[in-house]
Amino acid sequence: MTENLGLQLEQHLPTALLKIIRMAGEIAQERGEKLYLVGGTVRDLLLGRANLDIDIVVEGDAPLLANLLAQKTGGKAVVHPRFGTAKLRTPEVSLDIATARTETYPYPGALPNIRPSSIEEDLSRRDFTINTMAIQLNPDSFGELIDLHNGRDDLENHLIRILHRNSFVDDATRILRALRYEQRLGFQLEPDTKKLLCCDASMLKPLSGDRIRHEVELVLKEKEPEKVLCRADELGVLGRIYPALSNNTQMIERLKQARSQIPSISLVLSFALITYHFTPKEGDEFIIRLNLPSAKAGAIEDMLELKHRLGELDYPDILPSRIYLLLKNYSLHAVRACALAHESALVRGYLQLYLDELRFITTSLNGVDLQQMGVPAGPHLGNLLRNLLEAKLDQRVSTMEEEESLMQQWLKEIET
Ligand code: CTP
Repeated sequence: MTENLGLQLEQHLPTALLKIIRMAGEIAQERGEKLYLVGGTVRDLLLGRANLDIDIVVEGDAPLLANLLAQKTGGKAVVHPRFGTAKLRTPEVSLDIATARTETYPYPGALPNIRPSSIEEDLSRRDFTINTMAIQLNPDSFGELIDLHNGRDDLENHLIRILHRNSFVDDATRILRALRYEQRLGFQLEPDTKKLLCCDASMLKPLSGDRIRHEVELVLKEKEPEKVLCRADELGVLGRIYPALSNNTQMIERLKQARSQIPSISLVLSFALITYHFTPKEGDEFIIRLNLPSAKAGAIEDMLELKHRLGELDYPDILPSRIYLLLKNYSLHAVRACALAHESALVRGYLQLYLDELRFITTSLNGVDLQQMGVPAGPHLGNLLRNLLEAKLDQRVSTMEEEESLMQQWLKEIET
């Protein structure tokens, strides 16, 4: 008997979203088309997990449906007729609508060729059985579950299973996707899927930098990315992304520790932390391999350079000005990464002092004040201001009056 999930939809989806989904079903029905909720939302609905990343598939014309829905709801549709996809945004909701399609891969690692098809074919092109379930949204069959690949059973048995033996060869991003789902949901790779995943890990090599970066970013955005990295290492996958990532339990521990201190850790910082043990050459190669954009690339380069200079600070009672002068030339991401990852607690403490206090310290006197005290504009004035800042950092002066009298003293010394 067909399972009906209408009640679960009513219970778990926000009212505004449910209203639009029903409306979409009605429009599709009037046009003689069939509409389905697909992918992660169906999986998570059955697991009782929140997921408002709504994907809808229509056996028909997705851009047209999105435009009609936009007219009816006062929302805005952004359509891509060439790909048969659209995004609808209303003040309350956002959803993706796609035309049911098949995909064929011209060669491994390539982006697929696409043509419109039935929901059955659309579901058969997907990654894992638990992601192949769909829920009908037309009014006459609202809520009926379509489960052509036994996704429901695999969900109950906690298994990640591919649909066919060529799945990872067709699309190697699925290797990392499998590990993300496995760790996120606390599932297991089904034994044949695991075997093929290990065999096909080499298929990550031909993936473009952008595609592999996107997948690594998705891993790093997981709630517990270190679990995915650990599993990826165990199965020989990490080294296929970049060799120096493999076999380094410290790297994984470092990320875990950092996340316990900073729960919403940024992607840039996560990238810096997983590459902290790299040599500068490995850093450069990794940046090229993942085609990292400048903010992330810069943070890694800066951090690897700074790491090598931190021996200069590994002494007790270092003057704050010395800490400041070294660190001010490096990006905050680089300093933050080193503050989390450096092996010396003393150095970590100095870096944290810089992040929390030293970098905010400024002098009360500025260039105009110095000119009023008779210092001509030019490099000499700049040097005096720098010396004054150092004096302030080292707490030789604290008030404006103390700054003025120290400055007067220096000016007198210069005159004599
Ligand atoms: N999909 C696929 N192969 C891929 C990427 C996506 O088959 N390489 C399919 C899956 O059916 C997936 C759906 O497209 O469920 C949507 O993809 P995505 O939004 O990445 O995944 P979700 O399942 O929504 O999972 P997440 O919770 O991680 O967003």
